[in-house]
Amino acid sequence: MKVDGKNTRTIWVESDGANNATCVGVIDQTLLPHRFATIKLKTLDDAVRAIQSMQVRGAPLIGAAAAYGVWLALRTDASDENLERAYTALLATRPTAINLQWALDQMLAAVRNRPRAERVATAFKRAGEIAEEDIAINQAIGRHGLKLIEAIAARKKGERVNVLTHCNAGWLATVDWGTATAPIYLAHDKGVAVHVFADETRPRNQGASLTAWELGHHGVPHTVIPDNTGGHLMQHGLVDLVIVGTDRVTAQGDVCNKIGTYLKALAAHDNRVPFYVALPSPTIDFSVSDGLSEIPIEQRSPDEVATVTGKTKDGRIETVQVVPDGSPVANYGFDVTPARLVTGLITERGVIAATREALAAAFPERAKLAI
Ligand code: MRU
Repeated sequence: MKVDGKNTRTIWVESDGANNATCVGVIDQTLLPHRFATIKLKTLDDAVRAIQSMQVRGAPLIGAAAAYGVWLALRTDASDENLERAYTALLATRPTAINLQWALDQMLAAVRNRPRAERVATAFKRAGEIAEEDIAINQAIGRHGLKLIEAIAARKKGERVNVLTHCNAGWLATVDWGTATAPIYLAHDKGVAVHVFADETRPRNQGASLTAWELGHHGVPHTVIPDNTGGHLMQHGLVDLVIVGTDRVTAQGDVCNKIGTYLKALAAHDNRVPFYVALPSPTIDFSVSDGLSEIPIEQRSPDEVATVTGKTKDGRIETVQVVPDGSPVANYGFDVTPARLVTGLITERGVIAATREALAAAFPERAKLAI
């Protein structure tokens, strides 16, 4: 999507500035929205650090970055031992988004049975395919989700469609287009009047700092709201539909996503507001059923809750503490929305029910593998 009018992706291959070698370029998302800067990932450790520190984040982008991380690792040593080491190090970076394991398994399957001399080229090719596939999937999600927005626009006789979203499931969370945002970008580009309520998404504020930033750069009308506002808006008929992303969908359709998503689903259910989840098929984990008991929930540093980072009036970036000295803090990264609260799953193969049967029918090849 566009940054200052220029088409930009979140991950790419570029020159590393030495000996005609190449490396992986990414946007440092920890600096947004106040500074747009890119960084070069040249080694496995660089890739591990970028994912762990959330310079790259969002389930599909984590997967693509990890895939390139395997390539970077094999460049220095293409042995089985190093492949295993890279797999383990990358898998440990973030526990909840299943796209990470999916991408690593794809890389392992592509490379493992190849002679060492071919492994680097094979890994590079597969990582590139994973990135390209993500874009194609998101475009398909966009086409299916667009119909939902258009149907509401028709019902409202062209009056603007208000979409509420949580966290950032936009292009910054993927290679391009985003999942939750793909239908929104397509609708906007087609001239459908669409407006987005972006939850700020404490503690890391991905909604306020990333979703608002990318929507703004693409010219999509939006309003940032504190996390607790969605229920109020829904009670007053100000939200037509909710579209969120997800880090893992179970075989029975439970949805794990950024902390706070469950509360939005409850409010949507209570107010009969459709609650959709946009997901690429690599986000489905057919090996687990009950999201509540089977998905590991990442817990991050208490500092993320105890502090807030922002721009001062004179343009400096500062971090300030917002809790009393010594108050204990809890920082659960994700929650699980039970399938019964989900109106539909927007996938690359169409909008389907959040049920075991619908998921298995839409993705039989993946469901079968997990048996
Ligand atoms: O902790 P983050 O910023 O990686 O969490 C991102 C989300 O929760 C997204 O909604 C999810 O990864 C889907 S991205 C298309």
